[in-house]
Amino acid sequence: MTLEPAGEPAAWHAAPDEAAALAALIDAAAAADGVAPISGHVRDAVRSGAAQVLIDPGASPDDPAGVAVALAQDPAEVTVAPDRRRQGRGRSLVRAAVERQGAVWAYGDLPAAQALASALNLRPTRVLLQMRRPLPIEPLGYQPPAGVRIRTFQPGRDEDAFLRVNARAFASHPEQGRLDRSGLGEEMAQDWFDPNGFFLAVTDPGDELLAFHWTKVHPAEPAGQNPTGALGEIYVLGVDPAAGIRGLGSVLAERGLQYLAQRGLDTALLYVESDNAPAVRLYERLGFTVFQRNVVYRPTNQG
Ligand SMILES: CC(C)(COP(=O)(O)OP(=O)(O)OC[C@H]1O[C@@H](n2cnc3c(N)ncnc32)[C@H](O)[C@@H]1OP(=O)(O)O)[C@@H](O)C(=O)NCCC(=O)NCCS
Repeated sequence: MTLEPAGEPAAWHAAPDEAAALAALIDAAAAADGVAPISGHVRDAVRSGAAQVLIDPGASPDDPAGVAVALAQDPAEVTVAPDRRRQGRGRSLVRAAVERQGAVWAYGDLPAAQALASALNLRPTRVLLQMRRPLPIEPLGYQPPAGVRIRTFQPGRDEDAFLRVNARAFASHPEQGRLDRSGLGEEMAQDWFDPNGFFLAVTDPGDELLAFHWTKVHPAEPAGQNPTGALGEIYVLGVDPAAGIRGLGSVLAERGLQYLAQRGLDTALLYVESDNAPAVRLYERLGFTVFQRNVVYRPTNQG
């Protein structure tokens, strides 16, 4: 199986012109597999030309058979059209993707991805869990300890304190710990940003930030191949490791979940690293269960 018709060497390139055909391919794979093979922000980056793609053109460039996508230094994302599988295309794309990016995501860690990873001597090096629970949530009675008050985020006032605590709380996290002032500004400019759903635990008196819970509402997407209802997310929950007060995570998580329920949402979700045992325990106590496993695979000889 060759990756391209004879005379056209395979090459990574930016592909805003091919974005519509690739979106159709990604939708078809998502509908067949029950999980989107390419994440939302990577799909946006294909459309804007910010990502590089390697396309398996199949029979015609308007109807691509598979794609690997590379964005910045992140693990690549790969999919093959459901009706073009088991023809060696995934193997070629994943091999090229790992050569370029060093790693590849497998959203949902489906049996085909596991089998292909094993055939290519790739091993799981990161497991990101998506956990969910129904809303509303019964009152759990978590109260802030003495000397701590919960208030909501005030744009224009709380950014620097938030970024400081976020960097400390997520010092070892591959993405969240890197958030800076401009990245925060971009998120706050999004339609979904809602300061009333962004809770801060502060000292009282003193108003020193100790911990935060930033919630995010994903609107329903009834159209398309993979329709979903609205979802409320525990987007970022972080406690300053220097705060020295236990229980702030539970207090803030409950407050945010009650807020999402008040907004009429019937499902809450969150993402957590599987090896973050304290966080997984906290979410299990709050009634969350694993909904989906997302795995980063790397060659066995790499760390
Ligand atoms: C994973 C995926 C890319 C494989 O694409 P593909 O073109 O079907 O894969 P290939 O034909 O190159 O398969 C190569 C090897 O992977 C393994 N494999 C692939 N699909 C398999 C399946 N459904 N069951 C068992 N083994 C499978 C086999 O070892 C296969 O070799 P073989 O056909 O000689 O037995 C495709 O199923 C897909 O798009 N899945 C959704 C997105 C995803 O999970 N991406 C992450 C990739 S790590």
